[in-house]
Amino acid sequence: MAATFPALIQPRLAAALQATGISGDLPDGFVPSVDPAQNPQFGDYQTNAAMVLAKQVKKNPRELAAEIVEKFDGEGLTETPEIAGPGFINFRIRKNVLEQRVEDLLEDTDRLGVEEVTDPETIVIDFSAPNVAKPMHVGHIRSTIIGDSLARIARFLGHNVISDNHIGDWGTQFGMILYGWKNVLDKEALEADPVPELLRVYKEVNKLCSEDPDLREVCKAQLVDLQAGDKENLKIWEECVELSKVGLQKIYDKLDVAFDHWLGESFYNDKLQPLVDNLVGKGIASESDGAICIFFPEHEKLADQPPAIIQKGDGGFLYATTDLATIEHRVQEFGATSIWYVVGAPQQLHFDQIFEAARLMGHNVDLQFVSFGSILGKDRKMFKTRDGDTVQLDDVLDESVARARKIVEEKNPEFPEQEKAEIARVIGIGAVKYAELSQFRMTDYIFDWDNMLALKGNTAPYLLNAYVRTRAIFRKMGSDFQGVDHIEITEAAESALAMKLAQYAEVVPSILTDFRPNTLATYIYELATTYHKFWEACPVLKAEGAVKESRLALCELTGRVLKHALGLLGIQTTEKM
Ligand code: ARG
Repeated sequence: MAATFPALIQPRLAAALQATGISGDLPDGFVPSVDPAQNPQFGDYQTNAAMVLAKQVKKNPRELAAEIVEKFDGEGLTETPEIAGPGFINFRIRKNVLEQRVEDLLEDTDRLGVEEVTDPETIVIDFSAPNVAKPMHVGHIRSTIIGDSLARIARFLGHNVISDNHIGDWGTQFGMILYGWKNVLDKEALEADPVPELLRVYKEVNKLCSEDPDLREVCKAQLVDLQAGDKENLKIWEECVELSKVGLQKIYDKLDVAFDHWLGESFYNDKLQPLVDNLVGKGIASESDGAICIFFPEHEKLADQPPAIIQKGDGGFLYATTDLATIEHRVQEFGATSIWYVVGAPQQLHFDQIFEAARLMGHNVDLQFVSFGSILGKDRKMFKTRDGDTVQLDDVLDESVARARKIVEEKNPEFPEQEKAEIARVIGIGAVKYAELSQFRMTDYIFDWDNMLALKGNTAPYLLNAYVRTRAIFRKMGSDFQGVDHIEITEAAESALAMKLAQYAEVVPSILTDFRPNTLATYIYELATTYHKFWEACPVLKAEGAVKESRLALCELTGRVLKHALGLLGIQTTEKM
């Protein structure tokens, strides 16, 4: 597979710059940027190199652009470039080159033009990470969906990805849960459906504690016993964790999300004291007011903040201690060269601190805080249930599937029950994921069922429907795609579609630059609308000969790219809907 079009244009553009004689003034390693053109009327790609350079060499940008075009060699790649506006240079890919590209993409069934990275990293992705026996709230929804998508994308690009669900299985909530287990547990309810019962117990004790401060102390004592290794408490704790994991796994199955590891906080228990001793020994941590702390006096941002506490006066360890032990484990045992944390923005300070501490400890690993904003209700306040409760992911998924079922019922009442259920599942789960992934992660987005499940607009149902159309044509024809000898592009709508398909190879690698699956979502949406225009302008089954074959090939390739791209977002497709 040849390189992407921008990657092919760039060296020729660099050569043209050199030939104009101005390259002596260029900064070392200057690579002119080549981007998709804003308006396809003027070309397929454009560069603003002439405008950028004109400033530096004090020339008129349009004149400089003319000089560059004069020297540009488009042989076997582009038509003669054109100059537009204040000095843009526009490139149009030659028709035969685009045709050849479509033929190549049809052959490249696994990668669809997307190259693997040349320097694969070992990346641990830390996402989802809910807390045992506490509700999995909307923050965990975002983390789970974004993290899973990033894992899929990084893996496809050839990185060695290790997904790790760092569940909160050793937190202070266990004081209340232990007390609740011993005093207010409904055994029958637990056996019937453990997770809601554990939640109920946690909530009830939480409420009792807020009314009675003495009870809070009783719960704390339970926690201390647990941490000191009390046999009974350990046994209850183990059972709670196991039950919770089974409940969580059910949600992950619905979401089609999998982890390589579930190394929760408790996994690091016996590593914490040695870690603290080591940090004190090295002078990285020190005692302050009875606690062991890490101060960051040299750090621009952290110097004025409270220190990171890694051991309390009573000997207890904290969130930061576990996270430092976790980094050590990931670097030493997994050989991580990168760790990505997909966690809500409120934990910024925590991660700034542990990243800096890891640096002081000498860990040579790229640490990335992939943070995200909140999900809001239609009233622009925190997303809550009607009773003001935290929204549970499991309920959201079920409701979405139920709502999707109505769409299927309206469109295709005659489908067999089982098929309707399966299509509703794909649309319902896809809609929740797509609502998340089509937004930039830092944006607070509004959770709105009607928008999410609309058949028109930038939604999962619209995209799934576009895919279904690419498949329907072959069903109508009565055979699968039979291959094609030669692609022939005659209409503008065809070349626009071919160009979009070729750009998949440009989009996928760019997603990880700033961890933005939403750029992929935008691409899929554009591909679907471009396909829609092609569909309206170019009859397929009524066409003949090479034109028909080529159009069928474009339908086939569009279907493949749509399915693959949605797959990178963790969204499944359906053949009918
Ligand atoms: N359990 C934490 C929470 O719910 C998230 C953990 C994120 N990962 C980590 N390594 N700290 O807030």
